Amino acid sequence: MIRSIDVKSTEAAKIYNYLSNTVTPRPIAFVSTINKNGNKNLSPFSFFNVFSVNPPILVFSPVRRVRNNTSKHTLDNIKEVKECVISLVSEEIAQQVSLSSCDFEANVNEFKKAGFTEVESDLITPSRVKESPVNFECKVNDVIELGAEGGAGSLVLCEVLKIHIDENILTKKQIDPFKLKIVSRLGANWYGKTTKESLYEITKPISKIGMGIDNLPEKIRTSKILTGNELAILASAKKVPSKKEFSLRNNKNTTEKHILAKDFLIQGKTEEAWQILL
Ligand SMILES: Cc1cc2nc3c(=O)[nH]c(=O)nc-3n(C[C@H](O)[C@H](O)[C@H](O)COP(=O)(O)O)c2cc1C
Repeated sequence: MIRSIDVKSTEAAKIYNYLSNTVTPRPIAFVSTINKNGNKNLSPFSFFNVFSVNPPILVFSPVRRVRNNTSKHTLDNIKEVKECVISLVSEEIAQQVSLSSCDFEANVNEFKKAGFTEVESDLITPSRVKESPVNFECKVNDVIELGAEGGAGSLVLCEVLKIHIDENILTKKQIDPFKLKIVSRLGANWYGKTTKESLYEITKPISKIGMGIDNLPEKIRTSKILTGNELAILASAKKVPSKKEFSLRNNKNTTEKHILAKDFLIQGKTEEAWQILL
């Protein structure tokens, strides 16, 4: 059974729940801003991502509070001083980040409330966060308001001017996801960690164009045993590989072959899977 929700006749708080609990996991922007009186603010936003590389653009979205249709101080500050530092959130600081998200008064500095160390930025006025592994100094190019009601987001388009990376998260000069330990936002009170057990690689068929599932031999494509994921691994090959000598003496029936191939695919042995299937 599928539950289908008519958005127009459903209250915003419920839609917020459906969206924020399903569009997951989301990265978290920890945003440092300042207003024209010099009041500092630091708050997390998981409606966030990277949208351009040249120019380098990050976008996050403070949403108008559903309960009273007020705007977030972060947005108010950005309208006064069009700059921000976006810091990334690692496991080590996730609880402090959550604490900083309380509805403190506008003149409260969340650096102090949540125990973070302010570091002066090189190019902009808002401070960066010493404890974060990556800090982006940004100028705000545009704010796109998506509505005026409670729940309406405002897209804050941030151009990255300078990037600060803690060298402790590097392995052979590359960002190491297991050292970065980035935290993601899931639904309700759930957060995700970046652990070896939770990550796996999917080799991108970048140097060759995969043949596609529609070009797999029919017997494979219509398999009752191989899943869509497994067919996709096979279909990432440029063309159906040629049969090798040793696989000619294979007297298994189709079901047995598909079960064996599935086993090879689970082990990451694509070539062996193909040879069994041919
Ligand atoms: C991990 C996390 C992610 C959040 N993401 C968002 C978001 O994307 N948009 C939003 O409006 N509020 C988000 N919030 C809530 C704000 O951080 C919270 O409303 C905060 O008080 C805003 O602070 P400000 O009014 O000082 O800007 C998030 C809170 C947490 C803990």
